[in-house]
Amino acid sequence: MKEHPQESSNEPLAASHDEDGNPMEWWRNAVFYQIYVRSFQDSNADGVGDLPGIIERLDYLNDGTTRSLGVDALWLTPINPSPMFDFGYDVSDYCDVEPLFGKLSDIDRLLVEAHRRNLRVILDLVPNHTSHLHRWFQESRASRSSPKRDWYVWRDPSADGGPPNNWVSSFGGPAWSLDPSTGQYYLHSFLAEQPDLNYRNPEVVQAMENVLRFWLERGVDGFRVDVIHKMIKDEALRDNPKPTPEEDHPIKHYGGQVHLYDEDQPGVHEIIRSWRRILNQYGERAMVGEVYILDPLRIVPYYGNGDDELPLAFNFSFLWTPWDAAAFRAQVEQVEGLLPPRAQPTYVLSSHDAPRFRSRFDHPQLGAARARVAAMMLLTLRGTPFLYYGEELGMADVVIPSDRICDPVGKRFPGLGRDPERTPMQWNGNTGAGFSTNGDPWLPLADDYTTVNVAAQVDDPSSHLSFYRRLLRYRKQTPALTQGEYRALDSPADTFVYVREHNRQRVMIALNFADEPRVVQCAEWRGTTIKVASDPKREAQEIGRELSLAPAEGVVIEA
Ligand code: GLC
Repeated sequence: MKEHPQESSNEPLAASHDEDGNPMEWWRNAVFYQIYVRSFQDSNADGVGDLPGIIERLDYLNDGTTRSLGVDALWLTPINPSPMFDFGYDVSDYCDVEPLFGKLSDIDRLLVEAHRRNLRVILDLVPNHTSHLHRWFQESRASRSSPKRDWYVWRDPSADGGPPNNWVSSFGGPAWSLDPSTGQYYLHSFLAEQPDLNYRNPEVVQAMENVLRFWLERGVDGFRVDVIHKMIKDEALRDNPKPTPEEDHPIKHYGGQVHLYDEDQPGVHEIIRSWRRILNQYGERAMVGEVYILDPLRIVPYYGNGDDELPLAFNFSFLWTPWDAAAFRAQVEQVEGLLPPRAQPTYVLSSHDAPRFRSRFDHPQLGAARARVAAMMLLTLRGTPFLYYGEELGMADVVIPSDRICDPVGKRFPGLGRDPERTPMQWNGNTGAGFSTNGDPWLPLADDYTTVNVAAQVDDPSSHLSFYRRLLRYRKQTPALTQGEYRALDSPADTFVYVREHNRQRVMIALNFADEPRVVQCAEWRGTTIKVASDPKREAQEIGRELSLAPAEGVVIEA
């Protein structure tokens, strides 16, 4: 590890500034890297990744030299104690660390070590629901008169003895389970082992605010907030309507319903505002909301006035966009047209909940090249990019044999499970891929780990990893990319060409989505040079009146 400007401490890093010396929240120009904690690095040979393992690998992420990847912040998937029905998204204690992952002292050490490397760390906060084994729920279900009864959403059965309304769980089946001993149903937007908290109860609001403070005091740099749009439900618990055949959409209308009453209710904004006020008491802390609504218009309110609600809100529309330049451009134009001035987009190409984009956009010859074009788009559009561990290597989804399926979704709906994108990080070609010395990691390794791995790519200038490093480095030193305006240019079919501009710096990004070459007319860019290209041989080339792009090629040009 090379010099680190910060002394050892888990104090947050100093406030950041833009090019012109004006204060600028760090999360506005950061690149985040999502670590699926179970799968990044196992330090104790139990086959499951852990916090000491992540600490061992921090230099890979940012050691201050060009050898490391060069990201700015980490999002860790939930580290709290959990019975793991939904792999940590079922928390049984918000203020401790799951023993599989380590101890509280490990997260303290991780914060110190990350901050020494100028890396910020945000934790996954799962406020909508707890585990059914959380002591709050245990107390709540104990009796109808329990002081914590109202901490969850309990209702009498409907007249026919069935659930109180027609709401469905995101994971299939009704969103209600009957508790036989007290004769009432409780609400769960996900598994029955994940009962929903009742944020209409001020004690619950208070309890969760204490959780935020607990972690902020420990020095975390913020939170990724799980299904934040679901926290408040319709007070009268009205039935959701059915979509008309014309509007029906398999994801938006999961369970065959328009989710009018079980999510995205006005009251959620008050909670978000109070959380933002808490964050603000701790300096520059980030919060990115998982607002899983596939309608950008409905995401806008979650930014509030630009400064009083979510600093960042995920936009998942790219996950459902086919490999089509015009379709991506249309998504971006829509978002650019909708967001208020200080709100910043957060497009998502991959996560622990969706097939990896290397696989989604695969092609017999051009799969790897397409993945570079997609990464170039994500890292050059206006916004705060989130990378998903292993994408920098070109890691793909792994076919999981049926007897190895872990994800509850995969168990219920074979083929739709999320294990394929959660397999161990591929560090090297040795047994266990450098992830674990346990011969049987919790999910199987990818077959390609002997060739697609960090060790094989780190010194190869033409590798996927080297491409990411160059792109990240260039992004960091280029205010047009981190702060600039976005403007699309007219371009040939199957290409997406846009300009990013800040002060007098102008950068053009030209992406060819076609399986054939394309020629972009760019007379006004004549004499400028290619700064980053998906094919490193093109870098430093001078541009003429025309720019020819190979199939699935992308370039960044600076004027
Ligand atoms: C979010 C998480 C997902 C989890 C679900 C329930 O969507 O990203 O992994 O299963 O919430 O907590």
